[in-house]
Amino acid sequence: MIAITAKGVQVFLILALTAFTVSTIVLAVQKSNLKSDLDAAQKLLDEFEEAVKQTTVTSTTTTATVPQTSVSTTTTTEKIPETIDYRLPKTVAPELYDLYLHPNLETGEFEGQLVITIKVLENTDKIILHSANLDIAYVYFTNGLTVKSFSFDLDRDFLIVESTDELKAGSTVRMGINFRGHEMHTKIVGLYTSAYKKADDSYKRIFTSKFQPTYARQAFPCFDEPGFKAKYLVSLVHPKDGNYHALSNMDEDTNDLVGEFRQVTFKQSVPMSSYLACFLISDFVAESKTVETNGIGEAFQVSVYATPEQKEKVIFALNTAKAVTEYYIKYFQVEYPLPKLDMAAIPDFVSGAMEHWGLITYRETALLYDKDYSSTVNKQRVAQVVAHEIAHMWFGNLVTLKWWDDLWLNEGFARFIEYKGQHYVYPDWNMPEQFLVNAIQPVMKFDSTLASHPIVQSVNSPAEITELFDTISYEKGASVIRMLENFIGEDKFETAVTNYLENYKFDNTVTDDFLSEIEKLDLNINVKDILRTWTEQRGFPMVNVKQTSPTTYVLTQKVFLANKDDHALINEDDTAFKYRWSIPITYYVDGVEQELKWFYYDQEELTIEVPSTAEWVKINNKQIGYYRVNYDKEMWDKFASFLNKDIKVMSTSDRAHILNDVFSLADADEVNYDIAFDMMSYLGKETEYVPWKVAATKLSALKRTLMFTEDFKAFKTFAKNVVEVIYKSVGWTVNDEEVLKNRLRMTVLSLACSLGIEDCINEAKTKFATFLEKGEKPHPDLREVVYYYGMASSGSEEVWEKMWDIFTEEQDANEKAKLMDGLSAIQVPWILKRFINLAWNPENVREQDYFTCIQGIAANPVGEPIVWEYVRENWEEMVRRFGIGNRYLGRMIPAIVGNFDSETKLGEVVAFFEKYPIAGAGAASREQALANIKVNIQWLKSNLNDIHNWLEDNSIY
Ligand code: BES
Ligand code: ZN
Repeated sequence: MIAITAKGVQVFLILALTAFTVSTIVLAVQKSNLKSDLDAAQKLLDEFEEAVKQTTVTSTTTTATVPQTSVSTTTTTEKIPETIDYRLPKTVAPELYDLYLHPNLETGEFEGQLVITIKVLENTDKIILHSANLDIAYVYFTNGLTVKSFSFDLDRDFLIVESTDELKAGSTVRMGINFRGHEMHTKIVGLYTSAYKKADDSYKRIFTSKFQPTYARQAFPCFDEPGFKAKYLVSLVHPKDGNYHALSNMDEDTNDLVGEFRQVTFKQSVPMSSYLACFLISDFVAESKTVETNGIGEAFQVSVYATPEQKEKVIFALNTAKAVTEYYIKYFQVEYPLPKLDMAAIPDFVSGAMEHWGLITYRETALLYDKDYSSTVNKQRVAQVVAHEIAHMWFGNLVTLKWWDDLWLNEGFARFIEYKGQHYVYPDWNMPEQFLVNAIQPVMKFDSTLASHPIVQSVNSPAEITELFDTISYEKGASVIRMLENFIGEDKFETAVTNYLENYKFDNTVTDDFLSEIEKLDLNINVKDILRTWTEQRGFPMVNVKQTSPTTYVLTQKVFLANKDDHALINEDDTAFKYRWSIPITYYVDGVEQELKWFYYDQEELTIEVPSTAEWVKINNKQIGYYRVNYDKEMWDKFASFLNKDIKVMSTSDRAHILNDVFSLADADEVNYDIAFDMMSYLGKETEYVPWKVAATKLSALKRTLMFTEDFKAFKTFAKNVVEVIYKSVGWTVNDEEVLKNRLRMTVLSLACSLGIEDCINEAKTKFATFLEKGEKPHPDLREVVYYYGMASSGSEEVWEKMWDIFTEEQDANEKAKLMDGLSAIQVPWILKRFINLAWNPENVREQDYFTCIQGIAANPVGEPIVWEYVRENWEEMVRRFGIGNRYLGRMIPAIVGNFDSETKLGEVVAFFEKYPIAGAGAASREQALANIKVNIQWLKSNLNDIHNWLEDNSIY
C-alpha cells in the first residue's frame, strides 16, 4: 500500500512492506532539500521503489532496524570485549548536513530526514558514518549514484553504506538518509524530552539534545568525531500550539505553518563538530541584552531562556554572560562568529552545562538565580558555569581538538579562563584564591594515587572518551595552564592564545599546535619540553628543602604519593622523565618575592642562595606550581610561629597553601602529624574564607576517619577548640553583599555543626522547627546547614515525611537540592532505605539528580552500609537503567566506598568488581576506589598513633 499525502511543504510517502525487511518506511522530502510538487514526489517514488528493491536484497544479511541498544548492551553478560578500533576511516568527509527533525513530544519518537554533502578524499565504494539506536528506513544518493547496500557494525555504531560505483577522490556526493528514533522520554542524552510542572499543576514537555561526546549519532546519522567539521542546515518541526517555539545554533530563517505543526528552518551554520549541534523546542521565555564588541565583530544579542514560571531568575546569568563575553572578546581579540548567543535552563540535564555553539544549555541550578532561593554558593556556581561555557565558544568550538585525546586542553583551558572571566566581572570574589580550594588542591589529592593517569591519555571507545571528562582533564589541566601562564607571563600567554585562535579558526588542532604558538614568542625556555614532564606523567613532585648553611637551601625532588607503599610499585622507567619534573621554583625570602628559578627534571638538585639575615623561605608562591614542598621541622615550626605573631606575613593564598601541603604531607607520612596539628594553632587568628576552607575540609575528613576509633572524643574536643573562635565571630546573620564572608560562614557553620558544637546544633534545630512548623525559611545561605543538621539532630519519621512532601512539591532546583540533601541526614536506617527506594522513581528524583541523592545518603555514616548493600544488590538493574557507559554510574562507586578503611571492606569491593568485571565508563573510578581504601588503611597504620600521642601531649584527654 502506498499513500501519498502532499502536506504543504512536505510530501510523505508511506509504504508498508512485509517480508524480512523494514516493516514501515517513511520517506519525507523537505522543501529545503528538494522540491515540493507532486512531480517530484513521483520521481522520488520511482527512486524509492528502486531503493527498496536494493534494500530488500541486502537486508537478508543485515536488519535495517537497529535494536534499542548501544554501549549498555553489554550489561552484565560479563565478557570483556576485545580491543576494537572505533575510529571512522578518513576516506570521505562531510561538508554539509541538511537535517530535518520532527520529534513527537507525545510518543517520544522522532522522524528525521537528512542529506549529507560529502567530499570524497580517497577512491572508495563505501561511506562509513555513525548511527546508533536509529531505524534507518532508506539510504540514497541524489546525484546519479546508487546505494548497493547498507549495513551496521553495532559494536562501533557504524552505518556502512556501499555504493554500486566507486566514488572518486575529489568528487562530491549527496547522500540522503531517512530514519526514525525512539525512547526520547526515557533518556537524557542524544535527543530527549524533559518535563516540568506548570503553575496549574499540569506537566509541560519540551524537547532538546545533548551530544557531547558521542551522542549525536543517536539523533541522526553523522560523522560523530570532532575532527569532521561541517556546516548544518537544520529544520525542526514542532506543534503549532502550546506556545512552543524552536531554537538551534543559528538564527531562524523561515517559519511555516504545516497543518498542526510549524516547520522552522535555521540559517546555515559555520563549520562545526557534530557534538556542538543543538535543538530545543520549548515554551521558554527569554530576557536579552546586547553584547558590545568594541569593533571586534558586530554587536549581537545574548539571551537567557527559562520556563515562563522562572522568567525572573535569568537576570543574574544574563548580566554575567554579557560582561564575561565582552571580556573574552577583549582578551581573545577574536570576534564571536555567530549572529546570536542563546542560553537555556533545561529541567533535566545530564551534566552541569554544555557549550553548544550559539545555544548553550544548562542544568537549572547552573543558570537560574533567585535571591529568595539561591545561596552565595549557588550564585557563584552560575557565574562559574556561564564563564566556563562561553569560553568554549572560542576555545573548543571555533578551534576544536582533532580527537578526544587532547580533551584536557579544551576543558582545562575553559576551567582556567573561567576564573579570569569571573574575576573580571566580580573582582571582590577573589577568584584567584578560590582556585586553590576548588581546583588545584582537590585534584592534587586525586593525583597522588596510582589510580590517577597522565593528562594526555589515548582514548578510543565511547566509554573511554566519556571517562576522560574527569578532574585530571579539568582541574589538573587548568592547574598546569595556570602554572604555564605564570612562568611565561600573562601578556605573552594572552598573545599566544590570540594567535592560536586566529591561526586555527574553524579548524582542528592538537595540543602541540597550542604550545607552538607559545614557542613562537621570544622565550628563553623550552616550553614543550617543560610541559611534557607535566602532561605525560601521572602525579607530581614533592620538593624537599634543606638548609645547608645560613645562606643556602638545597632542593631535591621525588614523586609524591599519598600511600607510601606505592613507592615500591612504581617503576621509574615507565615514563621518559623517570617521575621527575621540570619545576618552576618561585619563592619568598622573608615574605619578599624572588626571581623564578628552574629545577629541571634532569638536574640532581637546585641550590637557592639567601642573605645571611634571612629568617624564612617559603617556596611555591600562592600554590601556583603543581607540586608540594616539604621542609625541615624547624622551618615548619617557624611558619607556625610567624603566623601566630602576624598572619599577614603571608598572603591568604600562601596560608591556604601551607595548610594544604602540611596536611597532605602528614597524611602521606612525609612529616609527623604533630607538625600539622601545631600549624593549626594559628587558625585562632585566621579570618579568611580560603584558608578556613582548607582547614575545614581537613577537619571534617579527620572527623570521618577517626569516627570509629577510640581517639574520636579527644579529637572532637580539639577540633571544637580550633573552630570555637571563628564560629562565634561569623554568627548567623547573612549580608548578601559579603560574598566571601558568606562562604566563610557556611563553611564554619557546617563544620561546627558536624563537630557537634552545641550552640550550632541548637540554632540549626530551632530554625529547622520554625521552617517545618511555620513555613518560615531561613536565609538561603543558611538553609543547607539548617536542613541538614536540623534533620540530623531532630529528624523523626513524621519530620522526614513532612520534609519529603515539601521536597516533592518544590519547583526551584536550588531549593530542591538543599531539601534533598537535608533528607539524607536522617539518622534512622529504615527511613534512609525508604529514601533510596523512593529516589529510584524519576517522578520523585529526576534522573539528573539520582546519583547526587544516592551519594548524599552514603555520606551519612548511617546510610553508608545501606547504600553499599543496595548498590551491590541492584547493580544489574542500575546498569540496565543508566548504561555501563554512564560516567556518573562509574563515579558513584568511589563516592560510596571512599571512607572504607579495612581489609574486610576492601575485600568486599574487590569481590564486587570481580563479580561484575565490565566497568564501562567506570574503569578508572574502580581503580580510584581501591586506591583510596588502601590509602585509608595505610593512613590508620601510620598516623593514628601520632595523633593519639599529640592529643595526649596537648592534654586534650
Ligand atoms: N563540555 C562540558 C560538558 C560535558 C561534560 C560534556 C561531560 C560531556 C561530558 C562542559 O563544558 C562542562 O565542562 N560542563 C561542566 C560544568 C562546568 C562549569 C565545569 C559540567 O557539566 O560538569
Ligand atoms: Zn567545559
